[in-house]
Amino acid sequence: MESTNDLTTYTSPNSTDVAHWYRAARATDFPENGGACVKYGDTQIAVFNFSRRAEWYACQNLCPHKMQMVLARGIIGTTAGEAKVACPFHKKTFSLHTGQCLNAEEDSITVYPVKVVDGFVYIGFTA
Ligand code: FES
Repeated sequence: MESTNDLTTYTSPNSTDVAHWYRAARATDFPENGGACVKYGDTQIAVFNFSRRAEWYACQNLCPHKMQMVLARGIIGTTAGEAKVACPFHKKTFSLHTGQCLNAEEDSITVYPVKVVDGFVYIGFTA
């Protein structure tokens, strides 16, 4: 089944609402200071290994600007200490903490809790 370019696909849980920790891949499968895409069912999730800060983030892979599945290939960085990702297409930038667009009037993205246990990356979902 194909992934749908539909923002309603994504629902962000608070870390306290996580019903299922999905084992996405080995931590070593992700590039340092970069991202990769994993699928949870038909949902594409961008996972970022922000290794210079020893932090991990996950968000929808779908950029809400032109509805492109590209955020995993975005450039990560920080603004005032807040981790962010810039879409590789038109550089709309989103907080990896709140999902808010930081440099344009754009829809927010969905972000997910991430944890690394015994060398595996887990993403938290509500179902
Ligand atoms: S498609 Fe992402 S900024 Fe335009």
